Order: sequence, then C-alpha cells, then structure tokens
Amino acid sequence: MSEFPQGAPADDPQARSLTAELTTDHREIDGLFLEARTALEDGRPEEAHRALDRIWMRLAVHIRAEHKVVFPALAKDRPDLQATLQALHEDHDFFMATLAAAVQGLRGPSPDPASARAAMEAVQQRLAAHNALEEDQVYPEADRLPGAEGARITRDAARELAFLPRRHGP
Ligand SMILES: [Fe+2]
Ligand SMILES: [Fe+2]
Repeated sequence: MSEFPQGAPADDPQARSLTAELTTDHREIDGLFLEARTALEDGRPEEAHRALDRIWMRLAVHIRAEHKVVFPALAKDRPDLQATLQALHEDHDFFMATLAAAVQGLRGPSPDPASARAAMEAVQQRLAAHNALEEDQVYPEADRLPGAEGARITRDAARELAFLPRRHGP
C-alpha cells in the first residue's frame, strides 16, 4: 500500500489528496465485503443479499467517480497510462457484472449462497490487485498533475462519491 502523497492543495491546507479520498473509499467497501461474507457464513442470506447490494451500489458510485473525473484527466495528460486505464476499466466491468449476478442469486425463495460466495471471492481477489494498482500507481499520478488540476480532480471525485442513495449511505 502506498503512502499518501504529501502536499495538499496550497489554497486549502485541510484538503485531502485524491489518493487519500479514494483509498478511504476502498477500505470502506472492503468492510462491506466482510459484512456480506460473515452473513453468508452464518446462514443469513437475506442479510448477505442486502450487504452485497450495498457493495454493488458503493462500487458503482466509486467507479463512476473514476470514469467521470479521474481517468479522463489522466488520459489527457498522461497518454503513457492508457493501457493501465484500459485494464482498470475491464476490471470494473467484471466487478459490476459478477456482483450483479451474485446479488440476483441471493434473491427470491431459493437463494444460492455457494455461488454468491464464489462470486464474491473472485471479485475480492481481483479487487485487491486492482486497488493496489490504483493506490500505488494511478491516484498519486492524478495528485501530481500540474497546476490546480490535482485539487480539482480531488474535489470533483469527492462530490461524485457523495452522491449515494440514502439506503446505501456510509
Ligand atoms: Fe477502480
Ligand atoms: Fe478505485
């Protein structure tokens, strides 16, 4: 795990870096996985369903912030990161599709906890590598963009993360 880059935007000493904002979001989503996993292992499929649904929504919001704010800014200023951003994009598609299937599998009168557990493990494994790559090599690059661009990205990404439906809030 990377250290957070030093140097918050000069005009606001309280502001956090993009790396700090999005890494915190990663950790919060990790916590939801633990909740879902515990509910599954304890034989509470309805609770597991709720937790997985929440993970899906939190990840959707997180990914939207990356697609709408972070990746376009990097693609513009750092064409050398194009292949990395493309790979991250493909991971996102996998996470959302696999989690949607798991949520669906836990719904209704005959839930399928075994499939949900397998799906969740596959997502968690790929997500760990994905998050490490973002935290070590992608977010810090966004924080280092010249001028006020890093501060703008951080502000816009934080605003995107705040757009959570109330039932999925932190
Ligand atoms: Fe991502
Ligand atoms: Fe991320």
